[in-house]
Order: sequence, then C-alpha cells, then structure tokens
Amino acid sequence: MRVQNKLKISMAVAAAASLMTVTGCSANQPAGSSTGGSGTDKLEITSWWTSGSEADALNVLIDGVKKTSPGLSVDNAAVSGGGGANARQALAARLQAGSPPDSWQLHPAGQLKSYVDGGQVADLTDLWTQNDWASKLPKDVAEAQQVNGKYYTVPIGVHRGNVLWTNPAVLSKANVKIDPASGVDGLITALKQVQASGTTPVCLGDKDIFASAELLESIIMSRTGAENYKKLFTNEYSFDAPEMKQALEDYKTILSLSNKDHSAITWDEAVKKMANGSCAVSLMGDWAYGELLNAKKTPGKDFAWVTFPGKEDIFDYVGDGFSIPANNIPHADAAKAWLTTLMDPKIQTEFAAKKGSIPAVTNADISTLSQYQQEAAKSFAKASVVSSLAHGQVTTAEFAQTYADAVSTFNGSGNIDAFMASMTQAQKTQLK
Ligand code: BGC
Repeated sequence: MRVQNKLKISMAVAAAASLMTVTGCSANQPAGSSTGGSGTDKLEITSWWTSGSEADALNVLIDGVKKTSPGLSVDNAAVSGGGGANARQALAARLQAGSPPDSWQLHPAGQLKSYVDGGQVADLTDLWTQNDWASKLPKDVAEAQQVNGKYYTVPIGVHRGNVLWTNPAVLSKANVKIDPASGVDGLITALKQVQASGTTPVCLGDKDIFASAELLESIIMSRTGAENYKKLFTNEYSFDAPEMKQALEDYKTILSLSNKDHSAITWDEAVKKMANGSCAVSLMGDWAYGELLNAKKTPGKDFAWVTFPGKEDIFDYVGDGFSIPANNIPHADAAKAWLTTLMDPKIQTEFAAKKGSIPAVTNADISTLSQYQQEAAKSFAKASVVSSLAHGQVTTAEFAQTYADAVSTFNGSGNIDAFMASMTQAQKTQLK
C-alpha cells in the first residue's frame, strides 16, 4: 500500500478510535490493489455485534461461511456500541481512507440509501438474480434491500423494535397487568402503580442513545398510529402535531419513572436488570430476547413481553443485513461466499435462534424457534409494519442522526418545544 494512503488511514482510524473499542480490527492492514482483490483466503467483516448473544449469533455466520469455504480465515472486526453508532463512525473513516472491510453490517432502506448515494456499496443485482433471492422474501423485505430498483444488500434477519419486556414477579407484586390495548395512558398508569409498590418502574440503558431514541419512537407510533408515523418521513404529517407533543410528554414521564443511572448503562445491562427484578419493564428491540436467553433467563418465568401499548398492532421493523464495498474490496470472492451464506435458510434459522430475530427468508424453518419468535413471525405478516427511525431505516442515516441528537439534547433539557421546533425544521429541510 502506498505510504500516503497508509498515513491517511491511520489518521482516520485514530480519530475514530478514541470513541470506541475495536475488537480485532485490521484497519491498518493493506487493503489490496486499488481495483480490489479477488482473494478467497481471507475475509474481514465489521458489525456492532459484541454483546453475548450478538457475538454468538455472528459466530453462526462465520462458522457457516468457513464451512462453504474451507481454509478461509475470518477477521471479525466488530466495534462495540449497541445500535452501531460507533461501528458506523469507524467504518466511515475506513471508507474515506479507501480501506474498507470486505463486508459490513447495516440496516436496509434509509441507511442503505445513504451508502448508495455516497457511492460506497456495490450493486448486487446480478447476485440476487442468479440466486432468485427476491422470490424467497416477503415483498416488503425484498424492496427494503433495493435503491432505485437495484439490490445493494443482503438481509440476515428481521427484528421488532417496539417490544416491552416485563418482569412477571415485579408486576404481580404491584398487582399490575400491562394490557397492550390500553395504550400509552394505560401503560403510564400501570408504571405509576409499580412505583407506588416501591420498585423502579422502568429499566433503561441509553449509554448508546439509540435505546432512548427507540423508546421515544415506540411512543410516537403508538400515539400517531402507523399511517401518520410513516407520513412524518414523507412530510405529510408534522413533527409539530398535537400527538407528537403528547408523545414527548409521555416520554418525559417515562424517563422520570426510569432508573436514574440510565445514561451510564447499556441496553443489554438494562434488560438484564429488568429480568433480575430491579424494575418492571424495559422497552427494547427483540435482540433483547436473544440476550436474555444468553444470560440463562427463562421466558415466561424470568421475563415476559407485550407489544409496546398502543391503539393498533404495529410491528416496528429493524432489519439487519450486510453489504460489500463498491471500491477497493480486498477479497471479492470470499465476500460473495459470505453474502451467499447469509441467505442460506438453515443459517438464518440458526442465527435467529441466538439473536432473537426471525429469518428474513420465507423458506427458513421457524418451527424450532421460540414461542416469542413464532408470535413475532405471525405479527410481521399481519400487523401494520413500519420501519425504525432510531435505526435509520425509515429515512436517511442523516435524518436519523438529527433525531438521535435531538433525543440526546432532550434527555438533558426536557424541553418539549425545543425538540419539536428542531425536528419540524429538520423535517422541512432534510426530507424535501
Ligand atoms: C441491530 C441489532 C442489534 C442492536 C443492538 C440494532 O441496530 O439491528 O441486530 O442487536 O442494534 O446492538
């Protein structure tokens, strides 16, 4: 690699490194020729899967590709930080320096579009066509992997973002039942009753801001309904609407009913605290299911779940997948083997069992998955499906960042008017 290039890479990586923990990152290794390599002996992948369940699930994929490509050495360059903000920042530095990994984790639709607009991800349409992948996916899922009719990513699983995990013993001690049909008002009444029983009602771990951004988005969609939530991103419904104000007030109340150290703990610590009885509920995507199983918690006994209460059954879709770089790919053949492995229905089921997600492909056997996952699969087929804002799926990565920043500011200030004004302004300028 040229010395100048190497210098640029190490500077960019050093800039990002202060913010994160990089596990086994090979960012300073040569990236191959500028046109990209075709090697099959090595594969470097990045993701933000570093919690116990996430790492186990990722290993299913790594073992899977090793099986199809004997002798392949896989460099797992995962960057810690739930929701992936740190991983994306590290990736951006590498992309800018022209030293990408062979493949990286990302969300489809909005976040994908930002990488496509930046000319950073390779067009995978031929691979999709050769394998007839579109016929093996629900229409919406296949569409989310496209930008302007071309495929740029491959889906490994479908998560649900708006799940309220509950501790049955804590709820029963407070004599409280959480009815998903009772809406946000019913939820808040129940949480106040838990508080009166002497237990902290809510466990939150927003050291990584996505956790509270996801809590607020769950409240927003419950208040606005699925159709208006979607319209927020086509500029047909305003961040200034009365339901939005109500959602912010609810969110403020729920924050006040949460553990005081929420900004110091991570999402996985928060859900485990809930299962250990420190509080009654925790809102988190269903990667929490995988994490609680990984922590040897028993579903139905140590924890249970309801869809975040609202006026209709909404499934907040958070998709996981992988793309490969448009330029400078170090090991193109190995990357192709990786993407093909991800679409293997057996691998998708095995991955889902550890991760808490449901397979993306419809030819995967889900009968061996948990009761929770069976319910999630049914709901994905019949509920109103919307995409997550906190995870940059419903709209661009840039707007999702604006939202995350506004949530962060709000968590400190509690200023509802300021939040609404800044998001209304961003909606007008960024979502034209
Ligand atoms: C991903 C999940 C992951 C979660 C927490 C989400 O963005 O979709 O796969 O487990 O972040 O890290």
